Amino acid sequence: MASAITLSNVSKIYKNGTTALQDLNLSVENGQFVSLLGPSGCGKSTVLRIIAGLGDMSSGQLYWGDQQIKRRLAFVFQEAALMPWATVEANVRLPLKLAGVSQAEAAKLVKETLKLVALTGSEHAYPRQLSGGMKMRVSIARALVTKPDLLLMDEPFGALDEMTRSRLNSDLLTLWQQKRWTVIFVTHNIYEAVYLSNRVVVMAARPGRVVADLPIDAPYPRTEAFRTTPSFNEYCRKLSQALAEATGDR
Ligand SMILES: Nc1ncnc2c1ncn2[C@@H]1O[C@H](COP(=O)(O)OP(=O)(O)O)[C@@H](O)[C@H]1O
Ligand SMILES: [Mg+2]
Repeated sequence: MASAITLSNVSKIYKNGTTALQDLNLSVENGQFVSLLGPSGCGKSTVLRIIAGLGDMSSGQLYWGDQQIKRRLAFVFQEAALMPWATVEANVRLPLKLAGVSQAEAAKLVKETLKLVALTGSEHAYPRQLSGGMKMRVSIARALVTKPDLLLMDEPFGALDEMTRSRLNSDLLTLWQQKRWTVIFVTHNIYEAVYLSNRVVVMAARPGRVVADLPIDAPYPRTEAFRTTPSFNEYCRKLSQALAEATGDR
């Protein structure tokens, strides 16, 4: 399979001298759902920011597929970061407006995308009227409306309660199975990483680096029943061991 993005020997030293990443190597294939799993401070957000072009690297290389051409990407953060004065519809339309898409085309895309994330009927609601889970759906819709090739998600469900999180996990998987974008999903939740991903990359801190790379070979669609299978538990056990080794070896 063709690789969507490759980071080769990427290091990042912030201005204050913090080495956030040291010689990080990571290659993600087209259509893969990869989770970056690791403790707070191991450089997960730094990796996403470098990929998104929101921060530069100190050394190393970033390759986009075979060419060096940047793909269309979208970013979802932990905070939904919606415009409070604008309706759901207007929030989702924003990136299209910024890209100069015609009103008619934008209306069609917004409608389609709201349906995808199960927000039809809430078009005219304001963010303050929505639950945390619904706000996150709006945020995801705003990312998907541009039809990105690569979706970067930085602990998108970290602030949600457990039930909302698992609901959004399964809805996200359903969407991903339909669309098959490449997803890089950051989390420090082992269960979430196993449930969603084709592959889990474990990172450790000081300096941020990759310490384990585990394929999750369970077939899709994955239902709630997957969470109670022996193989699910085995993946979780391996990952928690990798995390423990990563934090214990310092
Ligand atoms: N703008 C910054 N300036 C200085 N240090 C930073 C900055 N952003 C992050 N760091 C440091 O870099 C390391 C990695 O941070 P980050 O990528 O946010 O980790 P994670 O997302 O895994 O929690 C941490 O030690 C953090 O304190
Ligand atoms: Mg982070």
